[in-house]
Amino acid sequence: MTVTSGSGSGSVAEAVSATIGRYRGNPHYVLQMLREIQEACDWISPEAVDLLQSELNLPRTKIEGVAGFYSFLYSRPRGRYRVLFSDNITDRMLGSIELFDYMCEQLWVERGKTSEDGLVSVDSTSCTGMCDQGPALLVNSYAITHMTRARVDEICELIRSKTPLADWPRKYFHVDDQILRKDILLASELAPGDALVAGLGRGADALLAEIKASNLRGRGGAGFGTGLKWEACRNAQGKARYVVCNADEGEPGTFKDRVLLASYADAVFEGMTLCALATGAQRGMLYLRGEYRYLLDQINAVLARRRQGKLLGDGILGRPGFDFDIEVHLGAGAYICGEESALIESLEGKRGTPRNRPPFPVTHGYLDQPTVVNNVETFAAACLIAKRGGAWYSAIGTPASAGTKILSVSGDCARPGLYEYPFGVSVSEVLEACGAADAQAVQVSGPSGICVSQPEFGRRIAFEDLPTAGAFMIFNRSRDMFEVARNFVHFFAHESCGFCTPCRVGTSLLKKLMDKLNNGHGSLYDLAEIEKLNHLLQSMSHCGLGHSACNPVLDTIAKFRPAYEKRLQHTEFEPAFDLDRALRKARQMTGRDDAGAHFTTVPGEQK
Ligand SMILES: Cc1cc2nc3c(=O)[nH]c(=O)nc-3n(C[C@H](O)[C@H](O)[C@H](O)COP(=O)(O)O)c2cc1C
Ligand code: SF4
Repeated sequence: MTVTSGSGSGSVAEAVSATIGRYRGNPHYVLQMLREIQEACDWISPEAVDLLQSELNLPRTKIEGVAGFYSFLYSRPRGRYRVLFSDNITDRMLGSIELFDYMCEQLWVERGKTSEDGLVSVDSTSCTGMCDQGPALLVNSYAITHMTRARVDEICELIRSKTPLADWPRKYFHVDDQILRKDILLASELAPGDALVAGLGRGADALLAEIKASNLRGRGGAGFGTGLKWEACRNAQGKARYVVCNADEGEPGTFKDRVLLASYADAVFEGMTLCALATGAQRGMLYLRGEYRYLLDQINAVLARRRQGKLLGDGILGRPGFDFDIEVHLGAGAYICGEESALIESLEGKRGTPRNRPPFPVTHGYLDQPTVVNNVETFAAACLIAKRGGAWYSAIGTPASAGTKILSVSGDCARPGLYEYPFGVSVSEVLEACGAADAQAVQVSGPSGICVSQPEFGRRIAFEDLPTAGAFMIFNRSRDMFEVARNFVHFFAHESCGFCTPCRVGTSLLKKLMDKLNNGHGSLYDLAEIEKLNHLLQSMSHCGLGHSACNPVLDTIAKFRPAYEKRLQHTEFEPAFDLDRALRKARQMTGRDDAGAHFTTVPGEQK
């Protein structure tokens, strides 16, 4: 892996001109340009925006709007070293908060702020997809896992001595695969080109028929039939067709796409190429989440190798007219860009705001043309079907859920990592395999999924029972399920794109209600408010993020009610603002803490 230093000393004009040259001045690459400018100059200065605006002939507001949307892009100086601690619940369970505070102390910097000398900022970010090896953080977008106090000390020293990131010890940037159970996909020994030769042998029509016969359903969560999607794209009117691989993998607790791209990238690209064969597309794009920046060079090297081997480019495998190539776009810290229409907006260089649907991407996708968007795992699975046929594939799993599913297992277990199982595996089988003896709950499919409690451990991973994009987060009996739900609610409030009012306001109100309960001011009234918010979010939100934002709270209220009840200090409504608590600082300053200095007594608080 090559780590870009981000010296901050790069000339803005040079950085802007280089990136514009790389993308031939195409405004659809604005996001990529902004990202590259930041890598060279550490932030996106007004000067950089001026230059981009005049060179690309774009309104300034458009460029600023894009820069302002993505959380990894900075329109104000943020330090030469930008540290972001992963804030998933699994990182917290491994001690990330203490390490975060410890690093701030060591570097004399406030949480979320930039140090006075402009050297470093330390903040948190949503789950970085390293849940099997946390606590994790990003430094200038590069992941460092297995954080400990000793590692914090070493990193602080490197920062203080201004050591360029490129000179930091390589071992810091090593990310493990941790594959612990292989089945047909992860154990497959297909060589690059094998599936493509098989697909070409069958021909486009027969290949499509096999994909349909396999009953392969999308692995990104919604489970739409892959064959139907490919067919709809092929039959749609358009000047061009596109194949998009969704590697945004932002759902907290999911990291299987990271491993597929690290060690099975050929299969993913081959699946995309099969899709191009079936649909007639000539251009493919892989949207890689910004947190996986460390994979970019390695993935591009795989693409280059495939071009050399005639597995990409013009006349693939000597077939005149079979022209297809793939490019990688890097995201910049926005969970919503995993939603397929937001992802397409982002690919077009815009803010990642979900589109109205219908029309769907299969008819009106990238540049309004027919586009297939599939998850990383879906494309990899298509290779097996091209080689071994739809009937073979559909016989694995359950009747409604064909094939296997890769689970990203994390949390309270002895062996976190990837487990591939045929659909139909029960929660308890997975728990046994990963060494989770004392589990009280499993969050299946991340915060937007389902919280499964111990009496339900006989339930099965399958579209007809527990559908999942892959996350399998385990919580043992020592964990407070209220805190788990509160972390998820904070995630949704942070990641709401703000486009529609019910979600923008609703997720923020939900977060406030959960914080209010946490601070000991909750009442039954607040639980009723949560129910009302759920109704609002479910019925009025524009996209899936808003629809599912209340799921973790409702699930945990239903299954772990005592965790909420112990926080209900009042039966009547209680305001969230606590005057006595607010006056605590004043008491400290005056050195007065007698009974008369208190407005009231806060339950559980020492006078
Ligand atoms: C808020 C939100 C986030 C999503 N994130 C992802 C993601 O990270 N990866 C993914 O493949 N699908 C994600 N999806 C689902 C995609 O919109 C889309 O259904 C999927 O990429 C289609 O691929 P598939 O048919 O292979 O599953 C997300 C959906 C929503 C509503
Ligand atoms: S539901 Fe939320 S994330 Fe989706 S468009 Fe509305 S504000 Fe954005």
